[in-house]
Amino acid sequence: MARVLTGIQSSGKPHLGNILGAIEPSIKLSNKKENESLFFIADLHSLINIKDSKIRRKNTLSITAAWIAMGFDYENNYFYRQSKITEVCELTWYLNCFTPYPMLVNSHSFKDKSNNLSRVNNGLFTYPVLMASDILLYDADIVPVGKDQKQHLEITRDIAKSFNHQFGDTLIVPDCKIDENVMTIPGTDGRKMSKTYNNTIDVFLKEKNLKKQIMSIITDSKGLKESKNAEECNVYKIYNLIAKKDQSDEMKNKYLSGGYGYGHAKNELLELILDKYKDQRKMYFDLIKNEDYLNNVLKLGEKKAKVIANNVLSRVKKKLGY
Ligand code: TRP
Repeated sequence: MARVLTGIQSSGKPHLGNILGAIEPSIKLSNKKENESLFFIADLHSLINIKDSKIRRKNTLSITAAWIAMGFDYENNYFYRQSKITEVCELTWYLNCFTPYPMLVNSHSFKDKSNNLSRVNNGLFTYPVLMASDILLYDADIVPVGKDQKQHLEITRDIAKSFNHQFGDTLIVPDCKIDENVMTIPGTDGRKMSKTYNNTIDVFLKEKNLKKQIMSIITDSKGLKESKNAEECNVYKIYNLIAKKDQSDEMKNKYLSGGYGYGHAKNELLELILDKYKDQRKMYFDLIKNEDYLNNVLKLGEKKAKVIANNVLSRVKKKLGY
């Protein structure tokens, strides 16, 4: 059995980009019989930027509700908060002592912000070591991540090898699974959909606000009567990612034939999202009101995750002579 592990950034409610790019593929992977999946909310990593505990807690609950609503089988897998398995912090220290300083200096997460060092905290600097610890603490075999995390995975592998080299086989060196054809989901302004750009479409938003987001999708200013090229339009690009082939073709033809405005296309996109995610939205709105239920789901995962973590940590401590 392969153990698949991945961390979920806890920066807020999952949007359409997260759903198509991460949640749906991860759940698909977790449904394979030969896999056992550990998915966790990286709420220690988020402390680097988010200091407000109310926001952190709210984000955690909406992520949990969204993953359950999207169908993650948390009972036969693991779903937990990184922060609740405090063993990860202890392992991070040990691993710190096997991490060459230049490796962290060269890590993108730090390098990208290093032109303004006074605003860099040590959490950001040591981010890859905590991530290595997230992975190594659970004997993960496979870590599916986006391209942007590839370097972090390489750091993890290097740290594990360095430890094993000095103390004999102790840590599992994980394989990185980068999905090369993972699609980039365009946001309302055509750039990659991301909270940072404030261009997201939030599937788990009340209809009125969801509509507002969809109506704000940027288009060119062609008039209603004109023939339009669907491939160049952000509304169509998003529609095309979630529609069935015949629905997409139909919309494309309407663009071409003229007399079909961007407002029409936006309404169809809204209808499609409401229809396609109808059950998931309903479940999300039910779950988000039930904090106790969500907490119990997380507690269940944490209880199970702790068993693995303790096991691996004692193996490490034994080798180190603690
Ligand atoms: N750094 C990852 C991201 O930004 C989140 C993450 C934290 C993670 N720990 C992890 C991913 C361990 C995979 C494995 O998306």
